[in-house]
Amino acid sequence: MDDDSFRIGIVIVAAGRGERAGAPEDGPKQYRPIGGRPVIAHTLERFLTWHRSGPIVVVIHPDDEALYAAATVNLPQAARVIITFGGETRQRSVYEGLRALSGTDATHVMIHDAARPFVEHDLLDRVAEGFMAGHDGLLPAIPISDTLKRGGSDGLVHETVPRAGLYAAQTPQSFLLSEIRTAHEKAAALRREDFTDDASIAEWAGLPVHLVEGSVDNIKLTVKRDIDMADERLTASTLPDVRTGNGYDVHQLEPGDGVTLCGIFIPHDQKLSGHSDADVALHALTDALLATCGAGDIGDHFPPSDMQWKGAASKIFLEHAAKIVREHGGTIMNADVSLIAEAPKVGPHRQAMREKLSEILGISLDRCSVKATTNEKIGFVGRREGIAAIATATVVFRGD
Ligand code: CTP
Ligand code: MG
Repeated sequence: MDDDSFRIGIVIVAAGRGERAGAPEDGPKQYRPIGGRPVIAHTLERFLTWHRSGPIVVVIHPDDEALYAAATVNLPQAARVIITFGGETRQRSVYEGLRALSGTDATHVMIHDAARPFVEHDLLDRVAEGFMAGHDGLLPAIPISDTLKRGGSDGLVHETVPRAGLYAAQTPQSFLLSEIRTAHEKAAALRREDFTDDASIAEWAGLPVHLVEGSVDNIKLTVKRDIDMADERLTASTLPDVRTGNGYDVHQLEPGDGVTLCGIFIPHDQKLSGHSDADVALHALTDALLATCGAGDIGDHFPPSDMQWKGAASKIFLEHAAKIVREHGGTIMNADVSLIAEAPKVGPHRQAMREKLSEILGISLDRCSVKATTNEKIGFVGRREGIAAIATATVVFRGD
């Protein structure tokens, strides 16, 4: 099967009540925070950022609409998720998810527990490779490593169960969409409601299910201790991801009627020469922001050779850089610009410049700083041949 002949839809089931996790006052386990974010935000992000994900359905409980909205509000692309309501059992919830997915162009489906937030892209890739190898049913699983005992109600060990050939089943359990949907329909019609996973429905329906190497990290959060351990693991391993970028720019001055600095036009007997509006301050800040996510520099994104940027307001360059930062999961904490100019006087315009930065970047005024200095009549700036700007941006990126 070639890569283009299938499209992998995702169903994430999140409609359970998490009874084994206890502490009902803390709400359903999939909305409890681990590493500062709800479990479901971690799980969903893994799929939203996987390059092979097609349509994504999340199956929620009708009581959890507000919880879901709050948990996913900051997730880029969350708007593309299809939301549907689940039922009394996991089996029923999956069935509702499969029905919602049937309205899309998905040919295959990965069915995943919201309560497994650590699923890695490597594991998803292994499942996708199984599809490509022509398998229509795939089960990620890990060989059992503990010795297994059968105990009795008398509290005694009755026997040792050979563990050879035994596996612990994980999700995403993955199938040809039409086949697993038909199997679920058949089970529902016969009122078989006791299946705890989808591979067992497939087995019951006679569909072959291939084993795929699972992952020890892909645990299901079931009891409260699992959630606490997941939180400890994320909190311990998450160093604050604070990044600083700098930028520098110079433009020549020539006779004219004014200069634009930080988006503010200042009347003057000179103007800055350049391809766009030559706003050195915004150019330096654009580079500083791009630097925080290794996204090259302003020339990579807006080549000077491209005529469409002639005379352009440099605001669009800065907006673009801020968008790239956000797409990388960054939050801009601070933007600082130093202007080095002999004239015009920047002081009277500093407040308007800060307000402009605050507006373009969508951050509060106290996070935006503009400073200016002359060059003491020394060098090209001192001779009024040009204006220079240095910028620093600080961005915090979301840890995972
Ligand atoms: N699930 C669901 N609908 C149900 C039951 C479970 O969508 N009626 C989902 C859960 O939200 C979870 C996944 O199926 O993401 C795995 O189920 P499980 O770990 O058993 O979760 P809960 O059923 O919520 O927990 P418990 O069995 O302890 O009540
Ligand atoms: Mg359950």
